[in-house]
Amino acid sequence: MNLKKMAGYEAAKEVKDGQIVGLGTGSTTHYFIEKLGIMIKEEGLEIMGIPTSYQSFFLAKNCNIPITTLEEHDLDIAVDGADEVDPALNLIKGGGAAHTLEKIVDYSANQFIVIVDDSKIVETLGKFPVPVEVVPQSLRTVTKKLEDMGGIPKIRMAERKDGPVITDNGNFVIDTDFGLLKNPSQLEIELNSIPGVLENGIFCNATNNVIVGTPDGIKRI
Ligand code: 5RP
Repeated sequence: MNLKKMAGYEAAKEVKDGQIVGLGTGSTTHYFIEKLGIMIKEEGLEIMGIPTSYQSFFLAKNCNIPITTLEEHDLDIAVDGADEVDPALNLIKGGGAAHTLEKIVDYSANQFIVIVDDSKIVETLGKFPVPVEVVPQSLRTVTKKLEDMGGIPKIRMAERKDGPVITDNGNFVIDTDFGLLKNPSQLEIELNSIPGVLENGIFCNATNNVIVGTPDGIKRI
């Protein structure tokens, strides 16, 4: 049973004709976008998508989903994956380094649905290091500040390119291990107040709707 596919396909049921849909990034959202493409082809669903990364842009194009932008439309609904979800539905995102645009799109939607498999549900956020997108020139100063805050920062390295990951916005990502997060909403704000930080992967108070694929079927929290 593919739990990510279950969650992605379930979320697609929430999308209505005429809606502007935020298209998240990652392997779970892949199935959501795929299913929207099937609904457009087989059921005549009429929507427009706003992608959160080159990955979701190219996938949406392949699935024949018409694309628009935040300049042209407000978002009715956004669907996105997550790396961790806590009981208050706070999230860590950014495993695919797309969290800056994801945050802009997801927070601006009338309805934001998170799709995960059950491995992403945690008691406390923080096993997954917090992704922090930084302007390249600020790497050293931000790294020092993250250490001063008690974090263990590590620049994310690319796998099939020499050197660091470069985000869709042309920046670096510093994955920072803060241990378990006692106060994620405060940390979210503190990180964004460091000069050079563009955005971090903590998403507090962003959603009240999480669809979880589990071996026993879909659960909603
Ligand atoms: C990308 C993200 C993803 O949504 C998150 O990493 C989850 O990915 P996946 O569905 O592949 O586990 O935040 O920046």
